[in-house]
Amino acid sequence: VTDVLMPGEASSRPSPSAPIRPGLPSSLPAPRGPLTEHLLCHFARPPHDLGSLPICDADVLFDDDAGLALHLCYELCYLGLPFVEEHWETEPSLVRERTRLERAFEQRLLDIVGPIPIGLSVADVRDTLIQMASAPNPRSLSVYMEQHGTFEQICEFAIHRSAYQLKEADPHTWAIPRLTGRAKAALVEIQRGEYGDGAVGAVHANLFAEVLAELGLDHRYGAYIDRLPGVTLATENLATLFGLHRRWRGALVGHLALFEMCSVGPMGRYAAALRRLGMGHRATRFYDEHVVADEHHQVVALNEMVVGLLEDEPILGGEVVFGARALDAVERAFADHLLDAWTDGRSSLLLQETGTARR
Ligand SMILES: [Fe+2]
Ligand SMILES: [Fe+2]
Repeated sequence: VTDVLMPGEASSRPSPSAPIRPGLPSSLPAPRGPLTEHLLCHFARPPHDLGSLPICDADVLFDDDAGLALHLCYELCYLGLPFVEEHWETEPSLVRERTRLERAFEQRLLDIVGPIPIGLSVADVRDTLIQMASAPNPRSLSVYMEQHGTFEQICEFAIHRSAYQLKEADPHTWAIPRLTGRAKAALVEIQRGEYGDGAVGAVHANLFAEVLAELGLDHRYGAYIDRLPGVTLATENLATLFGLHRRWRGALVGHLALFEMCSVGPMGRYAAALRRLGMGHRATRFYDEHVVADEHHQVVALNEMVVGLLEDEPILGGEVVFGARALDAVERAFADHLLDAWTDGRSSLLLQETGTARR
């Protein structure tokens, strides 16, 4: 893991006192297989019918090429893609092919976590989430990081997490207009904290950019996309899949609830790992703030957002549990990928030069 990206490799930090922001994406990733080859080739031109994406025989949930393909489709709905016309977002053939990828992604989730449960009471859902959040985790990434993580490994971890944490909270914001009553109020309360109570310097995504900069890494949005394997992109694509579609609002609520309920302990351990490695407050602030904020968010998420949603729409209990199980499944796969790579003494990132996995 020594030849990954070390401090200073891509640092674009303006000055010690200047505020750090992820900014806008500035470059497109390289294609890494038939799906991304096809998409990027068509994205270079004005919107038109892109035809059918090549058939993907791989596991769409974790495949490097399929993961990047879905990520590219989704980025059109966030900050856009550089050099790609904005009208691609609603080009019918793009939406059609994205839907095909999403259906395959959803089917793999169902294969892994089982069907959406039916007939769950509010108490059943609550108990299931509490049990999932408190279950022992024999392969905890945060425990490893606190006890053994090296500087190189914490850099790798931050690079992986940049996929989601530089847009932290955005996928869940899509659910706000789809909820009502207590659930909507609770989600807004959580998101208010995620967006720093309106203070740009406290927006969690910006605090994460600060972590990257302090580690000597490139803090710009999308800077490391070529290094991220499918298993990492799955964690980000999952949140966007649930966020973009109203029919998945229950799953998005379950995803966010478990996310908040599993945050305090791990965030504290990541902060401890950084301190053990000699990093200061600017590097640990993102994690320290979560230890405090998520102590509150987890209560609001469970007792107000989940319970409020099920008061309004009792039929969504199964979706809430499915969303939480899906999060748990992709996070476990992500942790296994990193720990397996480090146990073998190799990087968990893709090779920079080729965009292919180092195996
Ligand atoms: Fe956050
Ligand atoms: Fe939170």
